[in-house]
Amino acid sequence: MKAAAPSTTLQYHKQTRFAMATRPNKLANKHIVVFGGTSGIGFAVAEAILASSPTARLTISSSSSIKIEATIKRLLQSFPSNAIAGHVCDLATPDLEESISSLFSAIGKVDHIIVTAGDPISRASVHDSTLDSIRAAGQVRFIAPILIAKHGSKYLTPGPESSIIFTGAMVGQRPMEGWAVVAGYAAGIEGVTKNLAVDLKPVRVNCIAPGPVDTELVAGMSDEQRRGFYAVAAKTPIGRAGRPEDVAEAYLWQVLEQAGAADRRYMLTASSTG
Ligand SMILES: NC(=O)c1ccc[n+]([C@@H]2O[C@H](COP(=O)([O-])OP(=O)(O)OC[C@H]3O[C@@H](n4cnc5c(N)ncnc54)[C@H](OP(=O)(O)O)[C@@H]3O)[C@@H](O)[C@H]2O)c1
Repeated sequence: MKAAAPSTTLQYHKQTRFAMATRPNKLANKHIVVFGGTSGIGFAVAEAILASSPTARLTISSSSSIKIEATIKRLLQSFPSNAIAGHVCDLATPDLEESISSLFSAIGKVDHIIVTAGDPISRASVHDSTLDSIRAAGQVRFIAPILIAKHGSKYLTPGPESSIIFTGAMVGQRPMEGWAVVAGYAAGIEGVTKNLAVDLKPVRVNCIAPGPVDTELVAGMSDEQRRGFYAVAAKTPIGRAGRPEDVAEAYLWQVLEQAGAADRRYMLTASSTG
């Protein structure tokens, strides 16, 4: 009998290939940290990880202790057997490096580091930009991931089973009117990924570049940006914005996939909605 279509993100993960199948569970007893795990893509990635293994250990991080606490409660309702912790790390502050270093010394050994953190985008177009706004636009999405790799790599279990996954954006590859500043950082993180995959080998370093995905980030956009977002989404091959749980599949695949690393040290995955 055909399974009923999933109506929630959680049902989706339980009914798809995230469900525990007969294959060896590569996430059993692994510790995964998700920067930006309290909403949108990061939250869906957290669910996908927990749905993959009842013994996976998860640490979620964001700038807000209130959001972290609420997210842990929400996740534990669906995944009571998993160990889920949280650690505040505001990636937009001047003491960024110290905060990242403290996070890793507090959480200890990790197997996978996933970075989906992104602060609200206030100015993306060159015409509106100032020196300060250009610098600010890159701190969470470009500078922070490099420092997370710097400090986090010291705590990663050595070997090709371990991985770091960054988040870029399709706008780094395909131009979109008014997004030049963010596009620069999105393209830049892909270059960082390829080079870090060499520097940190045999640990795998990958990057996901999503197209438009309907998340809390979109709710925080200006009306003009939101109109542009849905107009771009309507022109994609699927004709609408992607869902976080769809994109989460790409992250989970990069966490688990090791075969490709034998001949490629990095992988950049563009979302099919882009
Ligand atoms: N949605 C899309 O269409 C799309 C497309 C391409 C690329 N992306 C990229 O994908 C990433 C995730 O986007 P999303 O749509 O999932 O966004 P989202 O729903 O707004 O989630 C962003 C996450 O980042 C955290 N965050 C925000 N400011 C932070 C800070 N200063 N320090 C640490 N964490 C912070 C948020 O938590 P707190 O608020 O609790 O800090 C939240 O957990 C972003 O980098 C975004 O640019 C998104």
